[in-house]
Amino acid sequence: MNIAMIYSKGDMSTAFPYDFKGREDNESVEDVKKALISLGHEVVVVPADDCMFETLKKMIGKNNLDLVFNLADDGYNLNTQLEPQIPAMLDLLGIPYTGSDHLCLGNCLNKVRTKHLLLANGLPTPKFKIFNRKTSNKLDISQLKFPLIVKPSREDGSIGIKRDAVVDDQKSLIKKVNDTIEKYNQPALVEEFIEGREVDVGIIGREKLIVLPISEINFTLPTGERNFISYNGKWEEMSIYYLGTTCQCPTRLNVALKKTLKKMAKKAYKLMGVKDYGRIDFRISNDGNIYILEVNPNPDISRDSGLARMARAYKMTYENLIDRIVKTSLDNE
Ligand SMILES: Nc1ncnc2c1ncn2[C@@H]1O[C@H](COP(=O)(O)OP(=O)(O)O)[C@@H](O)[C@H]1O
Ligand SMILES: [Mg+2]
Repeated sequence: MNIAMIYSKGDMSTAFPYDFKGREDNESVEDVKKALISLGHEVVVVPADDCMFETLKKMIGKNNLDLVFNLADDGYNLNTQLEPQIPAMLDLLGIPYTGSDHLCLGNCLNKVRTKHLLLANGLPTPKFKIFNRKTSNKLDISQLKFPLIVKPSREDGSIGIKRDAVVDDQKSLIKKVNDTIEKYNQPALVEEFIEGREVDVGIIGREKLIVLPISEINFTLPTGERNFISYNGKWEEMSIYYLGTTCQCPTRLNVALKKTLKKMAKKAYKLMGVKDYGRIDFRISNDGNIYILEVNPNPDISRDSGLARMARAYKMTYENLIDRIVKTSLDNE
């Protein structure tokens, strides 16, 4: 098949002035390209920029485009808010593509919308409040208990979630909320911080879903640090936070818990309309309550990604995983 791989391209340090370190190398492009070639496909790499629409249109005109592999998860022209518009553009072109559509990406990118949808459908998520404007007044968090975590309401990849994201008092809460609104130009989402385990459930498919073995984040951070995936823990390979944030798949969980997590993950995947591949992130509190943190459509799919690791634990090679995504995206069930 003739496949165009699209990806987000641009100057990271301009697009994400506070969060670009460690994110400059997009390994998924090279990894997926190699896998597609080894599966016998012809691959062209196209940046998701102002030329994308015309380039793809020309390929369609010449009858040499069968599928778009959408890896543009940092958005159009490196604007994450324009990530949902990419599949919408592909719909306009009438070309099949891998992964989720604009509605799913738009809803999942908006963490608050996702939380409302989860709650309306009986799926648990941490208690929260949203703040739209900077203030020097005491914030009304009457329904919530400290510690709280403050994050941008519409970002991904732990962007804006540094060490100071978890707060224990009003003063640091106000500071962090103001800081988030100012730097990220979007409402600040404040959630109860769930102390406990963090696990991810990967799912592949459209109609017929495969739930992959569950992965757990093992935290071995310096004493006194809170266990969560901060920006540094996710991206800065030389930092103590990165070294102290590792993944284990499969992980040990009791049978009932595993069953519940998989059932909830499947329900959330379908609810949000995720297609082909996705990852649902959970926290399990120390007293055993389960919470969905977020639903990730089109998650990282590089060879080293969590999803690829989960697939390996399912005895699926990386090439098999990519092949399956290609096939389900063409099924259109
Ligand atoms: N309510 C919460 N309780 C505990 N940890 C949290 C909570 N919200 C976020 N985190 C931590 O922050 C990380 C990133 O948050 P998340 O909402 O998944 O944002 P992103 O979309 O940037 O990945 C999570 O993987 C988790 O470690
Ligand atoms: Mg996450």
